[in-house]
Amino acid sequence: MSNPDLAAGIVAPAQAGVQGRLPKRWPWMPAFAGMTKTPELLQRGTGSSDPDGRKHKGSFTLGIEQKVAVITGASQGIGAALVTAYRDRNYRVVATARSMERSRDDEIFAVSGDIADRKTAERAISGGMARFGRIDTLVNNAGIFIAKSFTQYTAADYAAIVAVNLTGFFHITQLAVAEMGKQGSGHIVQITTSMVDHAIAGVPAALAALTKGGLNAATKSLAIEYAKRGIRVNAVAPGTIKTPMHPPDTYAQLAALHPVGRMGEISDIVGAIMYLETAGFVTGEILHVDGGQSAGH
Ligand SMILES: NC(=O)c1ccc[n+]([C@@H]2O[C@H](COP(=O)([O-])OP(=O)(O)OC[C@H]3O[C@@H](n4cnc5c(N)ncnc54)[C@H](OP(=O)(O)O)[C@@H]3O)[C@@H](O)[C@H]2O)c1
Repeated sequence: MSNPDLAAGIVAPAQAGVQGRLPKRWPWMPAFAGMTKTPELLQRGTGSSDPDGRKHKGSFTLGIEQKVAVITGASQGIGAALVTAYRDRNYRVVATARSMERSRDDEIFAVSGDIADRKTAERAISGGMARFGRIDTLVNNAGIFIAKSFTQYTAADYAAIVAVNLTGFFHITQLAVAEMGKQGSGHIVQITTSMVDHAIAGVPAALAALTKGGLNAATKSLAIEYAKRGIRVNAVAPGTIKTPMHPPDTYAQLAALHPVGRMGEISDIVGAIMYLETAGFVTGEILHVDGGQSAGH
């Protein structure tokens, strides 16, 4: 596993097995006592910085913990790519989905279960805390999409979409926020859809708009509720992305729905989430990654 965050100063040299000497005079040392509770301090660039942003050269051993990201819907598509992206940034990962298989990577804790079941959320969050000791990021990625004319939706369609997209969000977010609140820091990202703001003739999807629109609204609500407690809350609203959700024989038709003339790639969404991860001044944002769809046609 590469460790770009060591170079970027996001992880301590100690985590990468590098030992060093503490400087004799280190007047801001007390600030480091709370460093594991303020991970943003770890993102200030190369070397180390005190709380006022002063740079300190050299390497030394600190008890700084790796960050931990919880990814739902992690068995395939965008969620599986997020697991890789967070591991590449040296996060430990709690990965959950119904078909989640145990990983050979010790720093991935796999939890299989239905995200609509509170017990799955409890196993992910309390198990993640027991295994890794902290929860820094939650990506609410698990979701289902059923496009139908409104009168064709069945009660079972409605129950399934609400269960995964809304109930699943509710349980795990509530539990994650409780842990982040104790830490005094955290970041939550919902994956919604551009179709909330941009209905497409020929792709009727009122239940996607209903549930993902609810997530967009809750994103802003939670961002404000927790703004002063160190927890940022954002959403990424994708256009149509090349994942197992869409059969390849539909790609040409789906590409034409985007002003830029192509579908999105999984990397487009992962890149947006990685940006939000490091964007300490961004909260309550619905970041459209949709090839211009929400801007118009
Ligand atoms: N692809 C797109 O064009 C697009 C566009 C806009 C928004 N999005 C959103 O982006 C997110 C990821 O989409 P994707 O395209 O990567 O989807 P995907 O390839 O269909 O993957 C969906 C993931 O959600 C999990 N999941 C589904 N139902 C679940 C349940 N009841 N309990 C737990 N996990 C469940 C699946 O795992 P298991 O089956 O193993 O449970 C899978 O890991 C979704 O929220 C989707 O709505 C996608």
